[in-house]
Amino acid sequence: MPELVSVKEGANPKVVEMFDRISSTYDKLNRFFSLGVDRLWRRAAVKSLALGPRMRVLDCSAGTGDMAFEAHRQCSDVHTTLFDPSAKMLKLADEKAKRLQITAYALKCGAAERIDAADQSYDRFMVAFGIRNFQDLGTGLTELYRVLKPGGKGVILEFTPDRSKFIDKVFKTYMWWVMRPVGGAVSDDREAYKYLAETIQRFPASTTLIAKFHAAGFSKVEATPLSFGIATRFLLTK
Ligand SMILES: C[S@@+](CC[C@H](N)C(=O)[O-])C[C@H]1O[C@@H](n2cnc3c(N)ncnc32)[C@H](O)[C@@H]1O
Repeated sequence: MPELVSVKEGANPKVVEMFDRISSTYDKLNRFFSLGVDRLWRRAAVKSLALGPRMRVLDCSAGTGDMAFEAHRQCSDVHTTLFDPSAKMLKLADEKAKRLQITAYALKCGAAERIDAADQSYDRFMVAFGIRNFQDLGTGLTELYRVLKPGGKGVILEFTPDRSKFIDKVFKTYMWWVMRPVGGAVSDDREAYKYLAETIQRFPASTTLIAKFHAAGFSKVEATPLSFGIATRFLLTK
């Protein structure tokens, strides 16, 4: 496998550097902050893709690979491409794949805004908590549409602000007063966890995202709120 090098073209270089920096504590903090709920969200998101034998699956913004590895757990015969601009996140994904004895995968450094793949090369794609980090959301979505086969499906998981006022207050308090300081202290990177808390707070509502998915070309978009609307699962069909 060629050496992995972080890619900044197309992406926001500061965001890529930030994920490189926090990569070593990313998984541990993720589990801690979500109290394990993220696993349930991922499991259901992958299930919604109805994976079948020999499907080629793109895990965009793969990070340390949890979505791709869940795909292998649900369907032993898929091939996944773990795609992310942060080489350090992908290196951790590679180590995890070896521990899990998963072999049918490839690692590729790159940004969603410029996916290094031919048109219509994937049966499925997934993006978990990644679209918020795209430098140009519209271009990233158009690229995901381009590399998907006709009739193919993609799933997107993201925190969305469509929750009741009460849940929104509880969630924002938790993010600002627990996630931001604890994440900052454990990862030794206060800026990174401030960025994560801020981007979660200012991300557009599901209705705006649904319009963007249609504008990128997707013919069908189904949105399912998760855990009182803290996050939303979007199932897109080409
Ligand atoms: C919050 S992590 C999510 C990782 C993984 N999908 C998960 O669920 O744990 C966001 C990921 O988006 C990646 N990212 C940042 N900018 C990106 C871009 N322009 N295109 C694709 N991925 C990007 C980061 O490197 C990081 O690994």
